[in-house]
Amino acid sequence: MKSITAKGYKVEFTKKQYIILNDFVESQQYSSVFVLADTNTEEHCLPLFLSNLSTEATIEIISIEAGEENKNIETCSGVWNVLSELGADRKSLLINLGGGVVTDLGGFVASTFKRGIDFINIPTTLLSMVDASVGGKTGVDLGALKNQVGVIVNPKMVLVDPQYLNTLPSEEYRSGYAEMLKHGLIQDQDYWNHLKDYKKISSEDIQELIFHSVGIKNKVVLEDPYEHGLRKILNFGHTLGHAIESYCLTQKNKTTLLHGEAIAIGMILEAYLSTELTGLSQNESDEIKTIFSSIYPKVDFTENEIESILTLLQYDKKNSHGKVKFVLLEAIGKPVTDIEVPTALFKASFNYYKQ
Ligand code: GLY
Repeated sequence: MKSITAKGYKVEFTKKQYIILNDFVESQQYSSVFVLADTNTEEHCLPLFLSNLSTEATIEIISIEAGEENKNIETCSGVWNVLSELGADRKSLLINLGGGVVTDLGGFVASTFKRGIDFINIPTTLLSMVDASVGGKTGVDLGALKNQVGVIVNPKMVLVDPQYLNTLPSEEYRSGYAEMLKHGLIQDQDYWNHLKDYKKISSEDIQELIFHSVGIKNKVVLEDPYEHGLRKILNFGHTLGHAIESYCLTQKNKTTLLHGEAIAIGMILEAYLSTELTGLSQNESDEIKTIFSSIYPKVDFTENEIESILTLLQYDKKNSHGKVKFVLLEAIGKPVTDIEVPTALFKASFNYYKQ
């Protein structure tokens, strides 16, 4: 398997990926190497990673608490302080070993520490392999509001090693799979058709599929790195999905949803909106609903909860001039951006999800 060339860096898939990593670290003559892990990846992934890392530079491990609730500026502050106390300088390297929380937060910490040090992403979850680690988006949540603070800065390298998936809980695996299904829905109907049968996807297939998904995402990001236009399509299902995720994060009586579980609901709701507004056929919308409902848990929302979720839409990053803008579909594989949705349709979309 080859590497994928992104903007100023490569996503490494080949068997020689750790040799490439070690050669790169050597060539840059870093003063010190910091590995950021969380409490999960420190236990399950760090031993494998360290057994492959070979450098003359001092290696220090920094560990943060796992979980989306820790993706905030306080955790960044902790990491900045440790970097400072351990003498990190502008020639230090930060290697982010983890899922989306670690790669997003670590990328942000590195991009802002001493006005920016190099970082490399080693994604350990399916979600971070196919989405978070690639494309340069870094940042943290503001309270429960997702990814409100951040910068777009590219890593120096991304290394995708599917061995890290061996210890991944099945619900985390499923969560990443939602982003892959999204890639099919927004760009590649054949890919969607291939992925639809989740039970038939084996661990032998997964590396090829990750490669395909990263290829789709990378092509979009290369064309529009700062999300002025095309890149918005990567947010299909995320406008309502993020609002649902944020809402569940703050409610004690609501089970916290994984990102993929929330955007799976978002994609069903936004498929309904697509049928109402942008010409997605009823059959395609129903198929989207059937497929996501067969893989992801159903969540019940009361009328009041739906109201609260809808108020969170105002914080969506794609909004401008006080208007909520959606990515919808004209057909599977054909997205359309900047669509305004009449308020009355939101409740109808939740009814569609409920049925
Ligand atoms: N996760 C969406 C993007 O990177 O644009």
